[in-house]
Amino acid sequence: MKNLTLNNGIEVPIIGSGTNTYGKEGNQFAGDLRGDTQEIDWAIDSGYRHFDSAQLYGNEEVVGNGLKKSSLPREEFFITTKLNTFEGYVSADWAHAEIEKSLEKLQTDSIDLFLIHKPWDNHAEMLEAWRILEDYYNRGVFKSIGVSNFEKEHLDLLLENGNIPPAVNQIKSQVGHWNEELIAYNRSKGIASVAWSPLRGIDEKAKQVLDEIGKPYGKTFAQVVLRYQIERDVIVIPKSHHKDRQAQCLQIFDFELTASDRDRIAAL
Ligand SMILES: NC(=O)c1ccc[n+]([C@@H]2O[C@H](COP(=O)([O-])OP(=O)(O)OC[C@H]3O[C@@H](n4cnc5c(N)ncnc54)[C@H](OP(=O)(O)O)[C@@H]3O)[C@@H](O)[C@H]2O)c1
Repeated sequence: MKNLTLNNGIEVPIIGSGTNTYGKEGNQFAGDLRGDTQEIDWAIDSGYRHFDSAQLYGNEEVVGNGLKKSSLPREEFFITTKLNTFEGYVSADWAHAEIEKSLEKLQTDSIDLFLIHKPWDNHAEMLEAWRILEDYYNRGVFKSIGVSNFEKEHLDLLLENGNIPPAVNQIKSQVGHWNEELIAYNRSKGIASVAWSPLRGIDEKAKQVLDEIGKPYGKTFAQVVLRYQIERDVIVIPKSHHKDRQAQCLQIFDFELTASDRDRIAAL
């Protein structure tokens, strides 16, 4: 596993496991919790130590229970979660209460990376939320703080008015929608990019090209896409409900894409 060093010196495994449907009936985002931790158990068994969760997913306890069950020390794991701002922002008291619930569900007294899940229109509120994250960071409860789905203007707001720059911007970056400009902007500000849904949006034609690129290395389309992202220091958080596919996503450190491979992938 390769680690990336964030702008505050904290190291993060460059591949993490997505979790948004784990432990849920029918593997559906809106499914009820089944009460088991199967996908988390498989992932830990295959070598994942970085888990991407969120309050929005409603399954932080699945992640917490799985990590606890593994009996591995807490320090082995890198846990991300996100403040649910999909319905906007309520108040500072609300944000504090939601954060405390995350700590309880994840069964930990610190979170490695805590993100604001999504920007909203009110800049004063967004700064208030960021200052709350900074406070948890200063108290050592959050080891690093960042954002998700932020565009340049939202990043500038925090960079110009906050005390701590975001360590990460977790954004959509996938085949045909690489989000190149925003990744470059993140990079120019020392902010690491995390690609969410890294394996979505791949049509049959693109899959064929990617499989062809992977063939000489004995790699699949999924491995080629993930390799492409990590070669440019983009963190990836794939998820699968199949143990063998989860494991396959980790097998990307034993080959290197050529410049011509990368050009073909970028053009998809
Ligand atoms: N910040 C945000 O706003 C945001 C938004 C969306 C997602 N996320 C995060 O990103 C994570 C990943 O995104 P995602 O859940 O949409 O899925 P994804 O990782 O893009 O994967 C999409 C599908 O690819 C399949 N797959 C996985 N590994 C494979 C392999 N080796 N070979 C072939 N197929 C493979 C899986 O299907 P099978 O299960 O059938 O294998 C999976 O459902 C989420 O779980 C969540 O943690 C964040």
